[in-house]
Amino acid sequence: ENIYIGVDLGGTAIKVGICNQEGELLHTYEGPTEKEKSSDAVIGNIEKYVRHIVEQSPYEWDQVVGVGAGVAGFTDVRAGVILMAPNINFQNVPIRAILEERLGKTIRVDNDANVAALGEAWSGAGKGITDCVCYTLGTGVGGGIIVNGHIYQGFSGLAGEIGHISVVPDLEAIKCGCGKMGCLETVSSATGIVRMAVEAVERGDHTSLSAIEKVSAKDIFDAAKAGDEVSIRIINRAAFYLGKSMAAVAATLNPERFIIGGGVSKAGDILFNEIRRVFAELTPEPLQRGVEIIPAKLGNDAGIVGAAGLLLR
Ligand code: BGC
Ligand code: NA
Ligand code: ZN
Repeated sequence: ENIYIGVDLGGTAIKVGICNQEGELLHTYEGPTEKEKSSDAVIGNIEKYVRHIVEQSPYEWDQVVGVGAGVAGFTDVRAGVILMAPNINFQNVPIRAILEERLGKTIRVDNDANVAALGEAWSGAGKGITDCVCYTLGTGVGGGIIVNGHIYQGFSGLAGEIGHISVVPDLEAIKCGCGKMGCLETVSSATGIVRMAVEAVERGDHTSLSAIEKVSAKDIFDAAKAGDEVSIRIINRAAFYLGKSMAAVAATLNPERFIIGGGVSKAGDILFNEIRRVFAELTPEPLQRGVEIIPAKLGNDAGIVGAAGLLLR
């Protein structure tokens, strides 16, 4: 029996999984990215986790057909090179060649959000439709564009870098990990949401978050649900710019669905209702007709399944 390994290289964790020929996920393993270390050390971690998961499984190394990896950065898919990663320490890293060398297997790489979008399109919230745009809201904000059932790659494989659309007005804009000002990612990622909360606490705003030692995105969602005004305002701000970006994307691509995954999507209705409200307010009526904004279905596993799928489809 052949097995296929999927890797999801994110800013915080590296997730790996074993899939069968049908793309079903059989085993998973997760370890830290250790992004503060060199790209070599991070790729070393990928190798370590991949070898480990196979050792722990009932399968043999010989049964591994290949490894597909979704990586959190601007990825030249044809060359297999990570050009830049705003949240990991990668600059022009030929990750495909390095992994091929280290693992001795066929390697496919693509952007993490593209790969998650493929997973959702095949077996998640995009199943049965041909045109959708997926957002992944985590350490960064990622995007994956499915046109006619396929990932839209663009001129150099960088289509879908939605987190780096500049949406925040000049006076409020801060610098993004990509080097530019006012990117969506600076306000709508988990990192951005936590930053806004820390700023509010430091300013002395009246909020239940002040009592928490190290605020996480989940703390902010919980506080918002319990009625904390500052937390509600922060989530609304994240939602506002998401909705605004979707209005632009709708006018450009006319997708049938926006599918939102990643840790921040766990905020639930409080986030989704505001995104829908803003989208409805900013998008011309014919472009919103029949368009849905819904949560992703595969949760944490979309990236792994989609990455293994790079070898299967
Ligand atoms: C990166 C994307 C990535 C996203 C989510 C962004 O900062 O530019 O390539 O998909 O984070 O990980
Ligand atoms: Na992408
Ligand atoms: Zn940016």
